[in-house]
Amino acid sequence: MCGIVGYLGPRETVGVLMDGLRRLEYRGYDSAGIAVFHGGKIEVRRARGKLRVLEEAIAGESLEGKVGIGHTRWATHGRPSDDNAHPHKAGSIAVVHNGIIENYLSLKKVLTESGHVFASETDTEVIAHLVDHFLREDFPFEEAVRRALGKIKGSYALAVLCEKEPEKLIGARNESPLVVGLGEGELLIASDTPAVLNYTRDFIFLEDGEMAVLSDGKAEVLDLEGKRIPREPKRVKWNPLMAEKGGYKHFMLKEIMEQPRAITDTIRGRISEDRSEIIFEGLDSDGKMVKAINRIALVACGTSYHAALVGRYLIESLCRIPVEADIGSEFRYRNPLVDEKTLLVTISQSGETADTLAALREARKRGARTLGICNVVESSLSRESDYTIFTYAGPEIGVASTKAFSTQLVILYLLSLFLGKRTGYISHTQMDEFIGELVRLPHLLEEVVRGHKEIERIGRKYVHAENFLYLGRGINYPIALEGALKLKEISYIHAEGYPAGEMKHGPIALIDREMPVVVLATKDDTYEKVMNNIEEVHAREGRIIALASQGDKEIASKVEDVIFIPPTVSLLTPVLLTIPLQLLAYYMADFKGNDVDQPRNLAKSVTVE
Ligand code: AGP
Repeated sequence: MCGIVGYLGPRETVGVLMDGLRRLEYRGYDSAGIAVFHGGKIEVRRARGKLRVLEEAIAGESLEGKVGIGHTRWATHGRPSDDNAHPHKAGSIAVVHNGIIENYLSLKKVLTESGHVFASETDTEVIAHLVDHFLREDFPFEEAVRRALGKIKGSYALAVLCEKEPEKLIGARNESPLVVGLGEGELLIASDTPAVLNYTRDFIFLEDGEMAVLSDGKAEVLDLEGKRIPREPKRVKWNPLMAEKGGYKHFMLKEIMEQPRAITDTIRGRISEDRSEIIFEGLDSDGKMVKAINRIALVACGTSYHAALVGRYLIESLCRIPVEADIGSEFRYRNPLVDEKTLLVTISQSGETADTLAALREARKRGARTLGICNVVESSLSRESDYTIFTYAGPEIGVASTKAFSTQLVILYLLSLFLGKRTGYISHTQMDEFIGELVRLPHLLEEVVRGHKEIERIGRKYVHAENFLYLGRGINYPIALEGALKLKEISYIHAEGYPAGEMKHGPIALIDREMPVVVLATKDDTYEKVMNNIEEVHAREGRIIALASQGDKEIASKVEDVIFIPPTVSLLTPVLLTIPLQLLAYYMADFKGNDVDQPRNLAKSVTVE
């Protein structure tokens, strides 16, 4: 996620902006910039890289000014570069933005045809040109912003400056947080309170579809029709460190809780209006790729490998192309059957995992087409793949992967529909149904997240166990593996994921009261078999924690604890099941007093083999 700071007041603006951007660095970024009203015009300074590069760029300059905006960029549309860094300027307007403008290409086309010249690959620059366009039609600054926002589809948190009205600073929010800070004789805008806690603790938290106009020492909140909205400021009591975590105790918990938003952002702009198409800009637009391949190899490590295992079920179910899923460190040592008819799909949050990159390079050598699924623009994986589909999860700070994983699953679901449409295996009706379920997913996830207190209770109850077994069947089997990995890596409790159908082939010997068994028992075509496995464990006095479908009246009598999840198509159930397992691991690790965000011996990105 990008970071935004804006300032209007008597202090030296550059200092306030840089201080605010430093306090937003934890969010992760690849470039930064500021815009200050100085000497009768807006001066913009931007630089790819860390803030110190920007500091060097402005060192020695005396950019005095009483109003300005600043930005740290986490690239989504357009690679990290000086030109793509914010603020973006058009005419007398400068803008910084956090979010995704879904219709930026169509807006850019219209604006270009009317003479606007673009200097970047970003969606954000379109906003600057739109506001400038209405300004040139003699609308006042505030009205020009409002009219521009009326043309935009997508998520935004914005701060906007105008040379014609330099005593004014405008913010706006839609599905991307933005706060207004009310200081003593000074006003601030920020994407998150930590950026400006030094100057005030009194904030107005904008709601979706609202603008804030800061001028003459006061902040007015309006809707997009220009109607003023009375809004009382709230006093924030968090210290800056707590504020960085949005008030959550750990980044991991914050990132678990923001998965509905991460999945909404990842889906955004990738479904056609009539729900007949999945849109991956520039991928196989002529349909030739799908016709040219006869197999797909999914390669990843750790949690991303578990996503690959789910991806195998999804792709084979929805497009009937043979799929293999491999662990990165194993793939290239088994002399894999890879050639020009193979599509190699690598999955990686960081895009820097050495074993995954090595597999990618091996496959390229053998002539495979390569597709990456990644969370970091301009990462090695994205630069070395023929095509990359980005998960818009935003920076993932916690070492344990959570929102990156669930957004990987969503991309794999979208990719399966994309391929299935091209192989002709999915009908228009089916596409509409599958997309309909996907669009509901964020709301279902919100419901699952709301159940966190019950999961915390269960975590506290079993935290002293020394071993866990996680069981799942079919597309949920990889989620059993993922649940076990989450528990292992942050609570240091030994846990093993296993196909439920394998119990009789060994693991049932382990069952006793000391080893809780987590069973994924949602209603699908394996439910009866899973219930048999539950009977087997129950008969040997095993203690079972079941994850089941809401409305299942049978399961509670056979297990010790149940976590219910809302029903959806079985192909999307893995996304819903993952969150309770993430929370279970989180609460047990936290009860044990572990460093949840930085577990012992682990790194966020394993860049060595
Ligand atoms: C998962 O919680 C771990 N952090 C780890 O298994 C991770 O998924 C693995 O190292 C792969 O990382 P990547 O997705 O960045 O390639």
